[in-house]
Amino acid sequence: MTTLEKNNIDWANIGFGYMKTDYRYVYNFKNGKWDEGTLTTDENIIMNECACVLQYAQTCFEGMKAYRTADGRVVCFRPDLNAKRMADTCKRLEMAVLPEEKFINAVVETVKNNLDFVPPYGSGASLYLRPYMFGINPVMGVKPANEFQFRVFASPVGPYFKGAAKGISLRVPDFDRAAPHGTGHVKAGLNYAMSLHAIVDAHNQGFNENMYLDSATRTKVEETGGANIIFVTKDNTVVTPKSNTILPSITRRSLMYVAEHYLGLKTEEREVLFTEVKDMKECALCGTAAVISPVARVVNKGEEIIFPEGSNGMGEITKKLYDTLLGIQFGTIEAPEGWIKEIA
Ligand code: PLP
Ligand code: COI
Repeated sequence: MTTLEKNNIDWANIGFGYMKTDYRYVYNFKNGKWDEGTLTTDENIIMNECACVLQYAQTCFEGMKAYRTADGRVVCFRPDLNAKRMADTCKRLEMAVLPEEKFINAVVETVKNNLDFVPPYGSGASLYLRPYMFGINPVMGVKPANEFQFRVFASPVGPYFKGAAKGISLRVPDFDRAAPHGTGHVKAGLNYAMSLHAIVDAHNQGFNENMYLDSATRTKVEETGGANIIFVTKDNTVVTPKSNTILPSITRRSLMYVAEHYLGLKTEEREVLFTEVKDMKECALCGTAAVISPVARVVNKGEEIIFPEGSNGMGEITKKLYDTLLGIQFGTIEAPEGWIKEIA
């Protein structure tokens, strides 16, 4: 993209999509060790037809963002937690673990070399970062690769849900999230591949997302296809489902901290029965892409639950959580120690 084209990006109106940026960072793992790593302008990857990622889906990813702060710095949010979560995923998928300092170096270099793509403060957009890894050498029998490629690319993004200001709608699908049972806590590409049918089906029926229930009993709220869920009870307690089969969202962990330590609210991470949802005052999705998106409506077979506050923008507590978290990310509210990594 030329400088002129970059200067003409309509930041306030970009959606959540892929936009090619100038540089991406690559590390290769071979013969039991990671190489020195390099920046490249090449967005294409050439690999063997029998690469483990193509045959057995040995791939995982992370999602994070870089923000331009009110005073013009460029920062990212808790990248150490993304590095740790990716390490957990890699162990579960029999992939090499990238050391945290290499992960952070790749993220920092990718952002530093795409600074023109970090949207201006106040535009509502940010620079999405996608670290990912895949098994690249050919394997025929069912076994893991022993050569891996790790990459980070960047893409400016706007809101994940169109029209989220008016509240989004969820439906409970009448089939399980088809991720391999019990692996929902890792960010494996396969978990997302297996949720694509549910997502297409939800969209075809006019819903933004699926609210998945636990597959063992189908009575407990888990998460959605790309975000965790938070609720606010009538007495202003912030509640989020406890489950070891959902992705441990960094946004959610941060929000629970913000609720307790910045807003003085009571918080609970506990099992949430679907039968309790109708009694909640507010409901929202949270995640890097989803940020905090208020939920207006949840449908489970014939039953419809409406969150009136979600339909008129954000409920009172959701809005406070949103303002505080974004204030921390965009540098207008002091962050807890270690949450903000300054890049430029
Ligand atoms: N749950 C799923 C399935 C996700 O894909 C994501 C996004 O990464 C999240 C939750 C939210 O996690 P985080 O807040 O770390 O982005
Ligand atoms: C994220 O929030 O980073 C996600 O991974 C959600 C989705 C875009 C996959």
